[in-house]
Amino acid sequence: MTAYVLGATGFVGRETVRQLCVRGTKTIAHVRPDSKKLEEWRGKLAELGAEVDTTVWEPVAMAAKIRALAPQQIYILIGTTRSKAKADSLEGNIYEAVDLGLTKIAAEAARASEIKPRLVYLSSVGADPTARSAYLNARGRAEEVVKTAGVPWVIARPSIITGEREDGRFGERTAAVVGDGLLAFAGVLGGKKLRARYRSTTPDVLASALIRLGEAPEHDRVFDGIDLR
Ligand SMILES: NC(=O)c1ccc[n+]([C@@H]2O[C@H](COP(=O)([O-])OP(=O)(O)OC[C@H]3O[C@@H](n4cnc5c(N)ncnc54)[C@H](OP(=O)(O)O)[C@@H]3O)[C@@H](O)[C@H]2O)c1
Repeated sequence: MTAYVLGATGFVGRETVRQLCVRGTKTIAHVRPDSKKLEEWRGKLAELGAEVDTTVWEPVAMAAKIRALAPQQIYILIGTTRSKAKADSLEGNIYEAVDLGLTKIAAEAARASEIKPRLVYLSSVGADPTARSAYLNARGRAEEVVKTAGVPWVIARPSIITGEREDGRFGERTAAVVGDGLLAFAGVLGGKKLRARYRSTTPDVLASALIRLGEAPEHDRVFDGIDLR
């Protein structure tokens, strides 16, 4: 089994790489070639047991890489934030440029590779191509891109992903604590499904669910928080 992980340097990406390597899956961890921390990532990801790939984010180059690697799964675990986009000097609709733009490249490359790998797409609860929120709108459109790529796919829609991050993200932790508290209350009142769907998750729980969905016989399905435990 070979897995290609896009977004391997992220909170969820690193844990997915770690778990794939522990399971003995040949794991190719993609790091953007212009990463300021490329050498650091090479070391960290190699320590986990992964091979590091720095193919440029461009459909033809990425299709050739996918053809050569012949992975059974391509994990798409990418996305930007306001602070990351600022550091990348991105302007305009940052989610359209990164979350949607890079997903389009990955999906197009997977299709063009002609080896039909399964796309395992990390989306978000509330993703909707008609949403007013730029983030949820871009995520919704990215899901459409994944679904129509002409290769097998699964989409995961978790709620907030929390835990000890290197870059802090106080707002995310606060939202997780407050949201989980409200959901616990809803659970007591009988809203158990609601609680299971929307309560926060952690990278280890999510990575393990993504790998399970990536390797399960069924595909072409969207999974929400209930299925991601
Ligand atoms: N955090 C949450 O609560 C939450 C909840 C639901 C869904 N999600 C979705 O899940 C995705 C992954 O979550 P995460 O917490 O693992 O995110 P993360 O830690 O911010 O990682 C994002 C990944 O995307 C890459 N990336 C960002 N901007 C890029 C660019 N301009 N060019 C190339 N690569 C770029 C990063 O690479 P570098 O390291 O090189 O920047 C990193 O590998 C998110 O993007 C989000 O949309 C998140």
